[in-house]
Order: sequence, then C-alpha cells, then structure tokens
Amino acid sequence: MKLQQFAAIAVAIFVSFANGDTSPQDLALRMLASIENRGQATIDSGASTGFIQVGLFWQALAVVTESAPSTVENDGLRPLLSESLASSIPSLMNSTRDAGLPLDRFSLGSAMVASQNASFLPTIEALNASLELQPRNENGGLWYYNNLQNLTAYQNLSYLDGMYSFAPYITIQASLSNHSSQPLAALEMALEQIQILHDICVRPSGLLVHGYDALKAHNWANQTSGASPEVWGRSLAWYSLGMLNTLEIAARSPTLKGLETFETLRSLFQETMLAQIQAAEHSKAMTNRPGVWQVVDRPGNAGNFVEASSSFMTVYNLLRGARLHLFSDSKEGQNCTNSAQSIAEEIYATVSQQYLITYANGTLSLNGTSSVASLSPQNVSYEYYVSRPTELDSLIGTSAFSLASYEMGKLQS
Ligand SMILES: *[C@@H]1O[C@H](CO)[C@@H](O)[C@H](O)[C@H]1NC(C)=O
Ligand SMILES: *[C@@H]1O[C@H](CO)[C@@H](O)[C@H](O)[C@H]1NC(C)=O
Ligand SMILES: *[C@@H]1O[C@H](CO)[C@@H](O)[C@H](O)[C@H]1NC(C)=O
Ligand SMILES: *[C@@H]1O[C@H](CO)[C@@H](O)[C@H](O)[C@H]1NC(C)=O
Ligand SMILES: *[C@@H]1O[C@H](CO)[C@@H](O)[C@H](O)[C@H]1NC(C)=O
Ligand SMILES: *[C@@H]1O[C@H](CO)[C@@H](O)[C@H](O)[C@H]1NC(C)=O
Ligand SMILES: *[C@@H]1O[C@H](CO)[C@@H](O)[C@H](O)[C@H]1NC(C)=O
Ligand SMILES: *[C@@H]1O[C@H](CO)[C@@H](O)[C@H](O)[C@H]1NC(C)=O
Ligand SMILES: *[C@@H]1O[C@H](CO)[C@@H](O)[C@H](O)[C@H]1NC(C)=O
Ligand SMILES: *[C@@H]1O[C@H](CO)[C@@H](O)[C@H](O)[C@H]1NC(C)=O
Ligand SMILES: *[C@@H]1O[C@H](CO)[C@@H](O)[C@H](O)[C@H]1NC(C)=O
Repeated sequence: MKLQQFAAIAVAIFVSFANGDTSPQDLALRMLASIENRGQATIDSGASTGFIQVGLFWQALAVVTESAPSTVENDGLRPLLSESLASSIPSLMNSTRDAGLPLDRFSLGSAMVASQNASFLPTIEALNASLELQPRNENGGLWYYNNLQNLTAYQNLSYLDGMYSFAPYITIQASLSNHSSQPLAALEMALEQIQILHDICVRPSGLLVHGYDALKAHNWANQTSGASPEVWGRSLAWYSLGMLNTLEIAARSPTLKGLETFETLRSLFQETMLAQIQAAEHSKAMTNRPGVWQVVDRPGNAGNFVEASSSFMTVYNLLRGARLHLFSDSKEGQNCTNSAQSIAEEIYATVSQQYLITYANGTLSLNGTSSVASLSPQNVSYEYYVSRPTELDSLIGTSAFSLASYEMGKLQS
C-alpha cells in the first residue's frame, strides 16, 4: 500500500537532495522515504519473519521524527507510523495464533503501546495474553519460536534475537497497568531473560553466541551448556539494541532509574558494547576495516564479510548509548564514551562507503544485509553463516541505516 501524503514528502526530500544536502539527518529521512517508495512500509500478513523487520522500521520512523523541530519532512512522516501499525492488526488479534509466532511479534506491541493510540488496545491485549502461552525452558528462558509446524527443529531453542522484541515490550507494557509495583516487576522480567541468555551464550571475549538449545538435541549444541557455536553479528546487535531500548524506556520512569535492576542491566549493556568495540578495533587492526563481520570474531577469514545491518545497528547502539550517558566514563583507564563514538564514526563511514548506493533522483539503496540465519538446522557452523546470501534493500539494513544516520547527525550537531 502506498500512502499519498508520504509520496509528497518523498518529493520534498528529493528536492532537498537536488540542492546538495547530504547531511546524516537528511540521509536518515531519505532512506525512510526510499523504503516507502519501494512499498516496504506495511506488514505482509501471514509472514512469520516479517515482524521484526517492520518493528525495526517503526523504531526508525519513531526515532528519526522524535524530537526534531517540526519540519515538512517530520510532519509528513508521522502519519505513516500509525497507518503502518494499523496494517498489522489483522495478523495479531488472535492470542492462540500469536503464541505460534516468534517472539519478534512483541516488537510490534512496543510500538503500539508507545503510540498511545487507544485504537490499538485490543490488539495489545491479545498479544499480551499470548505471552502466558509461550513455552519456557527449565531455566525459565522463553522459547524463541513455538513453531507447531516444525516442533523438533525449534523446540527449547532460545535466541539472542528475541530480546530485541521481548525485553522492551514487557517493560513498556507496564505503563498500561495501574499498579505502582508493576514497572519494577516488568523490568525484572526483562533482565531475567537477558541474563539467562548472557550466562549461557557469553564467551571469554564478552561477545555472545547466537543462542542455545536447552535440550542439547541439535548437533551443534555444546553438550555442557547447550550453546551454539558462533557469534552471529545480527543476533548480537538485536540483543544489544533490545537492552538499549529497555534502558531508554525504564529511564523515563522516575521509579526505575537508579534502582539496582536498572544498574545491573546498564552494566550488562556496557560490558556487551565494550566487547563489540574491542571486536571492531581488532577488525580494524587486522583488516583495516572496522565494520561488524557476519561472524564477528573472525574478521578477514575466508568467506566472511562485513555485514551491513549489524554494522549500522551497532553504530546506533554505540552513539545513542553514549549520548544517553549509559557508559560509565572510564573502565581500565579508557574513556568508554570516547571509544564508542570514535569507532562508531569509523564504522559508519566505511560501511556506508561499501554498501550505500545513491541514485540521481535521490533514492537510496543499501546492499550487504545478510538474509536470516536460524538455529533450527542441525549444522550452524562458520560455513553456514558466511554462506547466507545477502540482500539489497533488506528492511533491516535500511532501517538500521536510518537509525545510525540519525545518531550521526546528533553527534555532529
Ligand atoms: C490511531 O490509529 C488509527 C489506526 O488504527 C488511525 O486511524 C488514527 O488516526 C490514529 N490516531 C491518532 C491520534 O494518531
Ligand atoms: C484463533 O486461532 C486458533 C489457532 O489457530 C483457532 O483454533 C481459533 O479458532 C482462532 N479463534 C478465533 C476466534 O478466530
Ligand atoms: C501482560 O502480561 C503480563 C504477563 O503475563 C502481565 O503481568 C501484565 O499485567 C499484562 N499487561 C497488561 C497491560 O495487561
Ligand atoms: C523444554 O520445554 C518444555 C515446554 O516448555 C519444558 O517443559 C521443558 O522443561 C524444557 N526442557 C528443558 C531441558 O529446558
Ligand atoms: C486503569 O485505570 C483506569 C481508570 O480507573 C481504567 O479505565 C483502566 O481500564 C485501568 N487499566 C488497567 C490495565 O487496569
Ligand atoms: C562448552 O561449554 C563449556 C561450559 O560453558 C565450556 O567450558 C566449553 O569450552 C565449551 N566447549 C566448546 C567446544 O566450546
Ligand atoms: C569522556 O569523553 C566524553 C565525550 O568526549 C566527555 O564528555 C567526558 O567528560 C570524558 N570523561 C572523562 C572522565 O574524561
Ligand atoms: C529512482 O531511481 C532508481 C534507480 O534508477 C529507480 O529504481 C527508482 O524507481 C527511482 N525512484 C523514483 C521515485 O523515481
Ligand atoms: C549487491 O551485492 C551483491 C553481492 O556482493 C552484488 O552481486 C550486487 O551486484 C550488489 N548490488 C548492487 C546494486 O550494487
Ligand atoms: C523444519 O526445519 C528444518 C531446519 O530448519 C528444515 O530443514 C526442515 O525443512 C523443516 N521442515 C518442515 C516440514 O518445514
Ligand atoms: C556443516 O556444514 C558445512 C557447510 O555448510 C560443512 O563444511 C561442515 O563440514 C558441516 N559440518 C558438519 C559437522 O556436518
């Protein structure tokens, strides 16, 4: 579905491009306009992997237009969000069916709660009820996907990816409750899931592998911990962005900021981002390229490649984390905020140079985003990840580019 008012905005944005404006803020808006022009702004009902993509697109729309001074571009972009949100209602109204979808579905719920639009309350209610139906492992960890069509391939698997959607959702839904104890209980639920994944998936480097199999039934599962074998860039980026979004929501609540639960989550976020800063610095030293590789800790290895979506998500995580003062000033003599900002700028510049395509009419395209990687196969080796095909104009990559560009604009202004 194309939206009339947005087409008009696209024209306005392209005119500004013709005038030579290529500031990061302008690139962020132009990428969103290009997404709409490609017809990618609304949900494809029935698809199970589409939710997280649309969830990230909505986040990009909300962030890029958030507090900016009122401009023609921003005012035109805002209605697109509620219309795009509304397109997902038919896919989510049945909680039994919702429970058979991946945790990704909750990224749509977060955007609906944040919109403060009462027309979404019945959908939020259905979605929320589906949480009770989500199976859990013995350790309390939520399954990522109760796929009834293919249970043996998916049962008892938990993925880092799920935290992009679950953790912010459970935290923000508490704002709909009238009980004053609710916000803390909700933040504790978010932290519990994040911590379970952390404890099983973390490597000595501080980087986390893709997920684990509580049954240790897949051939790839570590027979002691159940952990999967490789650090996949995008799953680590989803997980980190989930923590960042959760912290941002919690920080808005005067009762949560400064509490131990908040501080534990903040320091887990910092630790995870510091490991990613080190990985990018290591990559720069080894290959002269600071981007995020498909398999993060093997820069330059045969078949491996710098992956666009995780690189731009990481730029956003670093810059926004720094701007919101989520990195304590120094650790082992290093100024974390400075390190985060300088490596993020380098990642943004080199990965844009490699994958961003600008057409004469102002449209932007982005190459180099990996297609989805799953833990459902029996073999999720290094070769599995590096042989995933890449996609042009994947909504995950282009939305992440808008988010990263927005924060680059903030850094420069
Ligand atoms: C609320 O969402 C509906 C779509 O469900 C939309 O038609 C309406 O304009 C939105 N209201 C506001 C105030 O944004
Ligand atoms: C909800 O979905 C379930 C499972 O697909 C189905 O059995 C049930 O009939 C649906 N309920 C309604 C009210 O459509
Ligand atoms: C959503 O579900 C959770 C857990 O099942 C519950 O604690 C919470 O109160 C529900 N939220 C709303 C807004 O109904
Ligand atoms: C696997 O999931 C089921 C359903 O939630 C649960 O009963 C069982 O304890 C889980 N097994 C392990 C090893 O976590
Ligand atoms: C919270 O209280 C308001 C006003 O009393 C009521 O309309 C609303 O339904 C309540 N919300 C929940 C989730 O109980
Ligand atoms: C499996 O996990 C255990 C416990 O975390 C760890 O000590 C061991 O090195 C892992 N094995 C492999 C092959 O990674
Ligand atoms: C670390 O760097 C940030 C950003 O440049 C600066 O605001 C902060 O004061 C620095 N902290 C210390 C302890 O030098
Ligand atoms: C802009 O140019 C690109 C590349 O030629 C084309 O695919 C796209 O449809 C054009 N967009 C508009 C809005 O004309
Ligand atoms: C995108 O990348 C693929 C794989 O490297 C390449 O074959 C293709 O030509 C690129 N597309 C564009 C439009 O640059
Ligand atoms: C179940 O998942 C596995 C692993 O992803 C896949 O190889 C298989 O084709 C799937 N089976 C069905 C019936 O979809
Ligand atoms: C897993 O698959 C890769 C190719 O994708 C292959 O090189 C490797 O030998 C396989 N490993 C196992 C244990 O089957």
